[in-house]
Amino acid sequence: MSGGIRRVGVVGGGQMGAGIAEVCARAGLDTVVCEVDAVAARAARDRVTASLDRAVRRGKLTEPAAADTLARLTFTGSLEDLADRQLVVEAVVENPDAKTEVFAALDKIVEDPAAVLATNTSSLPVMRLGMATSRADRVVGLHFFNPVPVLPLVEVVTSLHTSAGTTAAVEEFAARTLGRTVIRSRDRAGFVVNALLIPYLLSAVRMAESGFATAADIDTGMELGCAHPMGPLRLADLIGLDTVASIAESLYDEFKEPLYAPPPLLLRMVEAGLLGRKSGRGFHMYG
Ligand code: CAA
Repeated sequence: MSGGIRRVGVVGGGQMGAGIAEVCARAGLDTVVCEVDAVAARAARDRVTASLDRAVRRGKLTEPAAADTLARLTFTGSLEDLADRQLVVEAVVENPDAKTEVFAALDKIVEDPAAVLATNTSSLPVMRLGMATSRADRVVGLHFFNPVPVLPLVEVVTSLHTSAGTTAAVEEFAARTLGRTVIRSRDRAGFVVNALLIPYLLSAVRMAESGFATAADIDTGMELGCAHPMGPLRLADLIGLDTVASIAESLYDEFKEPLYAPPPLLLRMVEAGLLGRKSGRGFHMYG
């Protein structure tokens, strides 16, 4: 089926899900995005439309190509609409119960026994999500990076149960169909990128928390001193502080090493609803 994945489903239309759906539709694929209800499905559509408009404004996409992309996308509030999909990518909130529930439901709904069920999890065991289905050999991690339309990397994560055929199918899909660069990781918390990135972001939070330097100076330091496109606190705000905290907790659960422990300031900010860019305030103010 590898070269033949043409019908894709995405569960979750937040910043990651909407981005994944956008790149699939831009690659010419028939793409269905499933959200929890019709209102959330409309919000997901608005998110993709805004990103396509931005791509047009930045000269990355023509207006007709943006219209064609939108025409290839369907937004729904019902998981049953994913029954005929050849690949479904789960991109719901980074919470083990929510993700397990989606996989158990997809197992009953997706009809093609050869279909691949993928997760965009940043840090949870792919194996555990596979075990929620009757087809763990067809379950794999397909981890994109935010902003998905801009960053060209995909981590392919194979669990102890993922078959070689499934891995080959998704690697071909990500590389050939989507034109992404693939790196491979075994199924341990954080995979390759987050295992390196999250301790760095947490160090920046600890530095701000200790009063050693301001958030603005920490970010400027890494932007101008190391040529990073964004400083660590601005990047944490982009990812979402709730997501950063969830990934840190998964890493800490797995390795029990202090460098992965979420600092109190991060946890307080999440509890206070200061989630970064998506809530208008994190380490910086937005919009
Ligand atoms: N579609 C296609 N291209 C787009 C686009 C879209 N919707 N929106 C923007 N672009 C392009 C722009 O045209 C521009 O390309 P050029 O430089 O070739 O012109 C480029 O993307 C940058 O866009 P902007 O100029 O609008 O924005 P910027 O220069 O301020 O960059 C940024 C913004 C891309 C977010 C950049 O700051 C960046 O790369 N930051 C780091 C992001 C990062 O590290 N993400 C990883 C997060 S970790 C993660 O996601 C994993 C996890 O599990 C948590």
